[in-house]
Amino acid sequence: MDICRVQAVNTAIVIGASSGIAKAIFTELADNAEIEQIITISQKELVFNVSNNIHHHISCDYTMNGSGNSASNDANENIARVCLALSSIKGRITKVFICNGRLHSLNNQMSVHTHNPQTSKSPENLQIEPSTVLSPEKRLEDITPASMLSVFQSNTLVPMMWLQHLVKLVNGKQACIISVLSARVGSISENQLGGWYSYRASKAALNMLIKTSAIEYARRAKNTKLIAFHPGTTDTELSKPFQANVPEGKLFTADFVAQQLLTIHQGIEFNNQAEFLDWQGKTVQW
Ligand SMILES: NC(=O)c1ccc[n+]([C@@H]2O[C@H](COP(=O)([O-])OP(=O)(O)OC[C@H]3O[C@@H](n4cnc5c(N)ncnc54)[C@H](OP(=O)(O)O)[C@@H]3O)[C@@H](O)[C@H]2O)c1
Repeated sequence: MDICRVQAVNTAIVIGASSGIAKAIFTELADNAEIEQIITISQKELVFNVSNNIHHHISCDYTMNGSGNSASNDANENIARVCLALSSIKGRITKVFICNGRLHSLNNQMSVHTHNPQTSKSPENLQIEPSTVLSPEKRLEDITPASMLSVFQSNTLVPMMWLQHLVKLVNGKQACIISVLSARVGSISENQLGGWYSYRASKAALNMLIKTSAIEYARRAKNTKLIAFHPGTTDTELSKPFQANVPEGKLFTADFVAQQLLTIHQGIEFNNQAEFLDWQGKTVQW
């Protein structure tokens, strides 16, 4: 794998780069004179409009589509392979953004429900089918093992596997901020509304993994800061089916959210502790 500018000291990596928020982060980074190289990573081949040669895209199949264990192992191996290829820029990475997260697969078809006949399989034989329909559950009966597992795979396992393999890339003198896109609904203490079982739980588990990883990063990559970031409701594919219920002025553009996150970075304290921050830079209770 050819990494375009091995000499670039200030490299940013954007993972899950097809996300609406990730694209806006990319634009912010491309406009930032301090950033010398941007590496985007996605399951998809993507083209970004950038006028100079600071950008390099890597496609990586981490989707875990296909059958259970072997799909998970393949995804983990693919992530490990990408991180190995990136070892040539070890010590030069200053920012990582992990943007992966799914709430639904509705594609604006709000009438689709979660029932999937394939989930009558026993748990050990459960397979994640690419066609599993995801929709945030309103009540207990809406939960299916296949859809819950699928949400956990993309929202929790994939970011965790990146955290697992990135530790060896950021363990140098270079300070690095790893921002993982979480969500306020993953806050256990702030959960007053209920519902959205899989998404909520996948983000709560993600938060726990970020906090736990920060303890190990403090030993193994002490110049790294881990942030669980809540962007607020942002105008992307993820929020589209729910935007009608958003109060006026509370639906943010991805550009605004990306600017907020980059501004928050400027005041970040490297104290070896994970933080759960919202778009204003305010602490969210775990
Ligand atoms: N939009 C909001 O209102 C809002 C609110 C709170 C939190 N968030 C969080 O912000 C992050 C970005 O969201 P967005 O609004 O920009 O969403 P989006 O545009 O719908 O992007 C979807 C993201 O999920 C990834 N993804 C899709 N299928 C996947 C799979 N099978 N396995 C792993 N990753 C997969 C995509 O990565 P690829 O590039 O590889 O396809 C992409 O990064 C998410 O973590 C989301 O939970 C968003």
